[in-house]
Amino acid sequence: MNSATKNLENDHVHILRLIDVMERATKAESPDVNHLELMVDLIKSFADGFHHAKEETLLFPLLVEKGFSLEQGPVGVMLNEHVQGRNYVKGMTENIALYKTGNQNALPLIYQNMNGYISLLRNHINKENNILFKMADRVLTENDHETLLHQYGEIDTHNICGGDLNQCLSKIETLAKAYNV
Ligand SMILES: [Fe+2]
Ligand SMILES: [Fe+2]
Repeated sequence: MNSATKNLENDHVHILRLIDVMERATKAESPDVNHLELMVDLIKSFADGFHHAKEETLLFPLLVEKGFSLEQGPVGVMLNEHVQGRNYVKGMTENIALYKTGNQNALPLIYQNMNGYISLLRNHINKENNILFKMADRVLTENDHETLLHQYGEIDTHNICGGDLNQCLSKIETLAKAYNV
């Protein structure tokens, strides 16, 4: 059976790969700013855009319909962590812009936000894979999985990552090779 939760776990594999790249990038004394911008764009388009849209607009609301709390418990915690992630991404974006104007003090702040995002997301993905999705699998019917997968396929991915979904994955792979991840 195709599973709507396995589909999300598969996205996580690519997101974790991007996060490994980011961790390597934070070790550079003088970073390749184009790479940092690409990383932020991939988070915005793929991780927070496409992937979180599947969770926030499709899976989580269905779980709430099935009795999960929206504010408390695992769904509430996950939503809250998505917000925390967005704050780190905002911090990265703002400080990359400052760094590009020649402000060297922005570099440690870029790295601070990247490191915050890295540890938040590793933890977050671990909780989704091992707790929330296992709970979801207990309440979702085969029909729910099929409906969700169909809805995932309807998300507009035009111009995502400057192309389409394959562009996201191939850009992550290109970065991974560049950073020996
Ligand atoms: Fe999530
Ligand atoms: Fe996720």
